[in-house]
Amino acid sequence: MNFVDQNVRHTLFTWTAQADFSPLALAGGEGAWFWDVEGRRYLDLASVVVSANAGHNHPRILAAMRRQLDQLVVAGPGMATEIRGRVAYDLSKVTPPGLDRFLFTLGGADANEHAIKMARLVTGRQKVLCRLHSYHGATFGALSFSSDPRSAPFLPGLPGVIHAKDPYCYRCPWDTSPEVCDRPCISHIEKIILAENPSTIAAVLMETVPGTNGGYFPPLDYYRELRKICDRYDILLVLDEVLTGFGRTGRWFAINHYDGVPDMLTLGKGITSGHAPLGAVAVNERIARHFDTNTLMTGLTHTAHPVSLAAALGNLEALQQESLVERSRNLGERLADWLKQIKGQHAIVGDVRSAGLYGCIEFKEGVEVVQFKKAAMERGVHLLVRGQCLFIAPPLVISERHLDEGLETVAKILCNAQR
Ligand SMILES: Cc1ncc(COP(=O)(O)O)c(C=O)c1O
Repeated sequence: MNFVDQNVRHTLFTWTAQADFSPLALAGGEGAWFWDVEGRRYLDLASVVVSANAGHNHPRILAAMRRQLDQLVVAGPGMATEIRGRVAYDLSKVTPPGLDRFLFTLGGADANEHAIKMARLVTGRQKVLCRLHSYHGATFGALSFSSDPRSAPFLPGLPGVIHAKDPYCYRCPWDTSPEVCDRPCISHIEKIILAENPSTIAAVLMETVPGTNGGYFPPLDYYRELRKICDRYDILLVLDEVLTGFGRTGRWFAINHYDGVPDMLTLGKGITSGHAPLGAVAVNERIARHFDTNTLMTGLTHTAHPVSLAAALGNLEALQQESLVERSRNLGERLADWLKQIKGQHAIVGDVRSAGLYGCIEFKEGVEVVQFKKAAMERGVHLLVRGQCLFIAPPLVISERHLDEGLETVAKILCNAQR
């Protein structure tokens, strides 16, 4: 049995029925590219799952992991290690002001679950207000916070989770247009809080900029006003930056485009650029102080794993020393120009949106978007599609030439579809 047969016979793949699933047989990767066992190379315009921000097999990340392997590999959750201190210190230099203490988790979903556990412990309240089109991870709690086709088979989810309408201007739930908009998306949140009784709500949990549920950008005053509402009712604001963190949108975090700092920020994916599993919850002084005298009633055997933290350290070094956040911002202008052209040229395109190297083409209803992913793979380009959206989120190390070539391939595929 070759290794692909062993995979198929003895492992289960997620988000798919198994019988007809034929996985790509991955052999290696470097920078913005990966290749399969037959040597076929793919330009990765999706950064795997919007996770490999620093690219595949980044030498600095690999070197940091190798150093750690020689130094210390096994550590318990209650033990201090050099790498744990170093990563937390370095992270605190890039996270938004005041968010300088970290709980390390194993990935993004459990970062969100832990943020909400902490919010409940700090406030003594139970409810969580989330958004109607959202994804916070596949574990049971995180799926309950989400509102997405992926949560549907598990309903009812956790009690006490409320979903508010989205600040999604292209498909505005209130049918307002940006010129006359008086932000019903913001006042709506306060109305829900009042109807639910503010003293029962522990936290508002939202993706700063949604990932696969639309890749849209809430209005610029959204988080400033949301912060005010949360303060008015003493509700904690938790922002999920699992997908948008670590330079994806051309800033360290998507919240850096806005005013308003959350009480907690959840991190994952780009924290190690996919080189090892890791997530984190960054918390402010208020949350941290609560746990000075109250037990932090949680724990994970592999929390703060030294090798995952070493990957995070190498990743931070790569992002900083190679100015990859600025690179995302600069290449992002190229991507934004291309997206505008695409919108002008193709009647099947409904809207285009982007910040940094996080771009989204939203197609009109009726356009079958999965066909574009298949067509791109046949031409050696890896894309992410979901619902009506096609995402362009390459590693931040991609060269201008390869970005242009990848976009050219996507443009050709859209031309063919238009005919
Ligand atoms: C916004 C967001 N939050 C949380 C998660 C869950 O992260 P993980 O799959 O690492 O648990 C994801 C994963 O896609 C995500 O996009």
